[in-house]
Amino acid sequence: MTAKLINGKDLAASIRRQLAQRVQALVDRGHRPGLAVVLVGEDPASQVYVRNKIKACSDTGITSIEHRLPADTSQEALLELIARLNDDETVDGILVQLPVPDHINPERIIEAIDPLKDVDGFHPNNIGNLVIGREGFLPCTPYGVMKMIESTGYDLTGKHAVIVGRSNIVGKPQTLMLLAKNATVTVVHSRTRDLAAMTRQADVLVAAVGKAKLIGADMVKPGAMVLDVGINRDENGALCGDVDTEAVSRVAGWISPVPGGVGPMTIAMLLTNTVEAVERRLLK
Ligand code: GUN
Repeated sequence: MTAKLINGKDLAASIRRQLAQRVQALVDRGHRPGLAVVLVGEDPASQVYVRNKIKACSDTGITSIEHRLPADTSQEALLELIARLNDDETVDGILVQLPVPDHINPERIIEAIDPLKDVDGFHPNNIGNLVIGREGFLPCTPYGVMKMIESTGYDLTGKHAVIVGRSNIVGKPQTLMLLAKNATVTVVHSRTRDLAAMTRQADVLVAAVGKAKLIGADMVKPGAMVLDVGINRDENGALCGDVDTEAVSRVAGWISPVPGGVGPMTIAMLLTNTVEAVERRLLK
């Protein structure tokens, strides 16, 4: 068997085309959406992510307001910047790229962002809204995974979804989103005994741990849908996910590739949240 590909790159492009029209409608009403992107320090991966986010904004007609701060920026100075962005009418969304340097407490920073501008969906208010099924902002990566599943027409009701990884930005919110779609959800992690026995039960398997090619063919149920959130380097320095894509493709029913899978969707959902932020404020 060869798995069908879930092409995140094409899906993201189609979402972005539709967003560009919504942006134009907002511009016609007198407001161009603006996203403030804050990067502290020079983490190389973060620089790539931020560059991609800013480029995606400009392609969609969203203004990006870039704040690049030196690695020794104090927590106080960063909090002051966030307070200014919260009050700035031209800023609809605020994103502080993580990780921040060690001397800055990321929780303090996230909590300082106005929840109505928290387009990353990391603020405790938005996480709380997700827990109880209320409208808020959904974290972009797990939100993108849901859109990828939806694009295949797959019905999650009653299916067993297994999530590998329990991070605040993917594993935990992904659990809640899959639950909301009536899946039975299991979360496995680094302390789980017999990981393979658990992953083999999955109808839908989401891998979000950051370990190159952790998920091999022997860990996947034939016909399963496999979503690969990892972005790693393999032994040759090539980009790869948490899934051994080549081997797992022979077993799975559906698989998302790396690159070209979840990554572009994360950005598409960030732009979606930014446009939503404006629409909620102006149109509701
Ligand atoms: N670092 C890794 N993923 C993300 C993300 O989705 N948003 C932000 N702000 N930082 C990240």
